[in-house]
Amino acid sequence: MTATNPSPAPAPRREGELLLRASDIVAGYLPGVNILNGCDLDLHQGELIGIIGPNGAGKSTLLKALFGLVTVRSGRVTLGGDDITNMRADALVHRGVGFVPQNNNVFPTLTIEENLQMGGFQRPRKFAERFEAMVDLFPTLGDRRRQRAGSLSGGERQMVAMARALMMEPSVLLLDEPSAGLSPVRQDETFLRTRRINRTGVSIIMVEQNARRCLQICDRGYVLDQGRNAYTASGRDLMNDPKVIELYLGTLAADVESASGHNKERRPATPDPS
Ligand SMILES: Nc1ncnc2c1ncn2[C@@H]1O[C@H](COP(=O)(O)OP(=O)(O)OP(=O)(O)O)[C@@H](O)[C@H]1O
Ligand SMILES: [Mg+2]
Repeated sequence: MTATNPSPAPAPRREGELLLRASDIVAGYLPGVNILNGCDLDLHQGELIGIIGPNGAGKSTLLKALFGLVTVRSGRVTLGGDDITNMRADALVHRGVGFVPQNNNVFPTLTIEENLQMGGFQRPRKFAERFEAMVDLFPTLGDRRRQRAGSLSGGERQMVAMARALMMEPSVLLLDEPSAGLSPVRQDETFLRTRRINRTGVSIIMVEQNARRCLQICDRGYVLDQGRNAYTASGRDLMNDPKVIELYLGTLAADVESASGHNKERRPATPDPS
């Protein structure tokens, strides 16, 4: 089955059919050095899933492996049941996958409008319609359409990058650290916008440094450590798991939350056996 564009109606959460599956992924950059050592990940129709973990855990590498930018040495990636392992990025875009990288995610010498044209180049006739949809979502981009992306702030660039990926109406969106480098208010806006995009039916895999905020809004979370899944559970269960807090979230924010009456119930998450 080929992935289709998202339907306008909100898709069911969690119970939705399996859309993307990564099984036992081994991948790396240099010969003989594996960064991912057997990662598994499932994304269901309509889900928003979060991937958290320490710096260097392989989170960005996992997204790049899903998007054909890092060679998968063993394991399998399927989309709607089709094997897409090591498929080229342009073919994946055609199948409904969008990717917003962590760094260098705009063409700095091009204007905002031209950046979005690049995003929609596979469907030029839809440009005007999609551009208007993006201006609805990111009003700033409409006002500044002729400004070069290189002169934008970090938050504005992030909007351009996200809008560019959305130009093709992806059914799956891969987001690498959308809140990185943003002020707390801009971070909140980014998380809310991500949730809003998800509610239009786009299934999302989001990698985030801001682990607590990410787990608060995602349906399910994965903790990646040293290229392997360490924990997998609902966002809420991960956020409340004492081991996950100790190892990956830090105790300071948890103490502040419990002192203010939040976070009373702590249910353990399941360590991933793999
Ligand atoms: N292009 C590359 N060539 C060689 N090694 C790389 C390359 N990109 C990343 N790595 C290595 O792969 C490992 C995982 O990097 P990755 O960027 O996936 O981590 P991450 O979990 O996204 O970290 P962060 O939270 O800092 O973004 C690191 O040890 C990194 O040095
Ligand atoms: Mg990264």
